[in-house]
Amino acid sequence: MPLTLYRRAHFNAAHRLFRPDWSDEKNREVFGKCSNPNYHGHNYELIVGVKGPVDPETGFVMDIAKLKQLIKEQVVEPFDHKNLNLEVAEFADLNPTVEHISEVIWKRMRPFIGDHLNLEITLYETPRNFVTYDGP
Ligand code: NI
Repeated sequence: MPLTLYRRAHFNAAHRLFRPDWSDEKNREVFGKCSNPNYHGHNYELIVGVKGPVDPETGFVMDIAKLKQLIKEQVVEPFDHKNLNLEVAEFADLNPTVEHISEVIWKRMRPFIGDHLNLEITLYETPRNFVTYDGP
């Protein structure tokens, strides 16, 4: 009986989308307001899904307290109230789009989730814009 266990989390972070090899004009044209040179913030809403069989001994897919702790250590503490471009190493040379942020979160968490479980990251950048990523 495989099913998906979900845990929600939240962080606020600043970012800027731009390519240093493009002109200011082209950055504005492609990335719009998200290319503001002085950065801006989003209220990111994260939903982490772990899919797998229910362990007959515990009745758990995984211990949700451990999942909560993992999200806190790998995502909320390093990302919340941070400038993603300047303070999170993965984004030093990677545009912090919602697509890339979800992939970075997946890569940070994957090593700590059992091999028999599927990890799915859903990340909202705004209430209407979001992505889902469950691995390459
Ligand atoms: Ni933005």
